[in-house]
Amino acid sequence: MIFAALIAGAFVVGGTDGFAASSSAFSGGNMLHHGPRSSQAFSMVSTPPTPSTASTSSAPLTQDQFNAYVQNTYGRYPLTIVRGEGCKLFDSDGKEYLDFVAGISTCALGHADSDLAAAVGDQMKKFHHVSNLYYIPEQGQLAKWLVDNSCADRVFFCNSGAEANEAGIKLARKHASTKLGIAEPVIVTAKKSFHGRTLATMTATGQPNYQKNFGPLVPGFEYATYNDPEDLKRVVKRINRRGKIRSLFGRPRRAVAAIMMEALQGEGGVVPATPEFFSTVRELCDETGALMIVDEVQTGMGRTGKVWGYQNFDVEPDVVTCAKALGGGVPIGAMLCKERADVFEPGNHASTFGGNPLACAAANCVTSKLSENGGALLENVRERGEQLRAGLAELQEKYPETVAGVRGWGLINGLVLNEESPVLAGAVVAETTKLGLLLVPAGLKVVRFVPPLVATAAEVSTALSVIDQALAIVTGAK
Ligand SMILES: Cc1ncc(COP(=O)(O)O)c(C=O)c1O
Repeated sequence: MIFAALIAGAFVVGGTDGFAASSSAFSGGNMLHHGPRSSQAFSMVSTPPTPSTASTSSAPLTQDQFNAYVQNTYGRYPLTIVRGEGCKLFDSDGKEYLDFVAGISTCALGHADSDLAAAVGDQMKKFHHVSNLYYIPEQGQLAKWLVDNSCADRVFFCNSGAEANEAGIKLARKHASTKLGIAEPVIVTAKKSFHGRTLATMTATGQPNYQKNFGPLVPGFEYATYNDPEDLKRVVKRINRRGKIRSLFGRPRRAVAAIMMEALQGEGGVVPATPEFFSTVRELCDETGALMIVDEVQTGMGRTGKVWGYQNFDVEPDVVTCAKALGGGVPIGAMLCKERADVFEPGNHASTFGGNPLACAAANCVTSKLSENGGALLENVRERGEQLRAGLAELQEKYPETVAGVRGWGLINGLVLNEESPVLAGAVVAETTKLGLLLVPAGLKVVRFVPPLVATAAEVSTALSVIDQALAIVTGAK
């Protein structure tokens, strides 16, 4: 039992973007780059993949065929999802799953939402893409909603979270160069953060395991400990003090251009920022002129029970980045900024698909759902979140040696496993998956719950009962 738990635990320890380091338990090799494919790894605790030959028919490829054609960048569970409905997903064998992953905090309205389908379908029939050389009404409408519902004044559209963060990084560099006279800008991010997979956002990500073998990294990033205001102050002051000394010797001015943080670290283990830490970020930015960038890719668009995670604090950032839930699963990202930070001019930044009519029609559907009925969807997020955390707290009492705690906001929550316990998050997720509940680990010791925002009380109860069964199995209580 424990052996199976350890294997399954090694299966998914990776990022919020679906990376799973699957191989270390088998190959003893580098977790990131060697070893068997994850479906083989998973098969040690579940069903072996069926060998098959290539097919010329239009039937879905088998998992082995899929692996033959698609690059091996994800550790995948041996599930082929073919259909969804609300919070449910169905695999190719017709098995039903309760989806508390939601495309990792993405499918805010669940699956096959009829209004989202109609919005996208109607837009396809009108026109689905046109260059940003022209005015796009759907984009304007979306930008207005984002501005009306945040502290920002302007929006740039792109296609993903990494791109939204890239845009924020570029904006901060240009702001530093043109407004602060900084020749060598430094962006301070947090250790254990996650900001994306492009070269700059991978460098911004304060986790060396994502950066290994991809050097040289992008210059101009430094890291501070999340939720440690004193460490952040030390890092910022050290960069600016040394930068000043360098300039005395005629070297280009090096200084902090931005502090970029998640309101709640998702991949870092579902760790909400403390109010003190967020206030310190704001104070340091005010003192130095640096921009405060909040990465809301995982927490934005209602996930925390407020439209934005930063609204859980009494602090307004200069830049907010979002993606994931913005289009409810249709790819779109956005970088929002205050007017004082809005230094981009024509030609500075662009994206062919960014803010195209199709993606904006989807996002406009999501925003209307967040606004309608006096914010009933946000109310649901808060209520279901409380229900979930209360139920998980009961499980903590029931399995005190395995469960160390529960944390989160709204519908982004983590069940924290005891460091001393041999049970890993991947083992719990492997069991719940077998029992029909999809969850995703956030690191080795945290089981993450990010269901669609439309999850019902009955669905949360079902999830709690499945996780109870899974904990009974992995702890050997059953
Ligand atoms: C906080 C955060 N920032 C950035 C990203 C990257 O987003 P994307 O995968 O859309 O590029 C993610 C993805 O998991 C994320 O959780």
